[in-house]
Amino acid sequence: MEQTLSIIKPDAVAKNVIGKIVDRFESNGLRIASLKKIHLSGADAGKFYEVHAQRPFFGELVEFMTSGPVVVIVLEGENAVAKNRELMGATDPKEAKAGTIRADFAQSIDANAVHGSDSLENAKNEINFFFAGREVL
Ligand code: CMP
Repeated sequence: MEQTLSIIKPDAVAKNVIGKIVDRFESNGLRIASLKKIHLSGADAGKFYEVHAQRPFFGELVEFMTSGPVVVIVLEGENAVAKNRELMGATDPKEAKAGTIRADFAQSIDANAVHGSDSLENAKNEINFFFAGREVL
């Protein structure tokens, strides 16, 4: 059993498809261990994505992630990290396989509907970034 972090990004929240995305997780064997809607500050987004701080897209990434509320979710299930990444599809929605969340709900590499942890170690850090232990059930 693994846990991983998903973020439903401002584009998908603005499109009112939170429920449709959560359904993809629940219909594919992942359980919601925690979920909340928050509006990230610039400091929050910069810290969360600090691994990308030197990348040319960092400024736009922080700007986009603070442009509206997001939904942060702890997903739990067998192989949750890989399963979530499979359900999301490629980072660039133009390359995402048909039927994936990004193919169906995203419009660009920035506004790409969801984020998902890329390893079990990062999942632990990302979950701890947003949630206190008592919030994850
Ligand atoms: P995410 O999984 O949230 O992780 C970092 C984000 O940076 C990524 O999704 C994209 O939305 C965004 N991004 C913008 N440009 C790029 C790029 N060239 N390569 C990777 N990620 C990018």
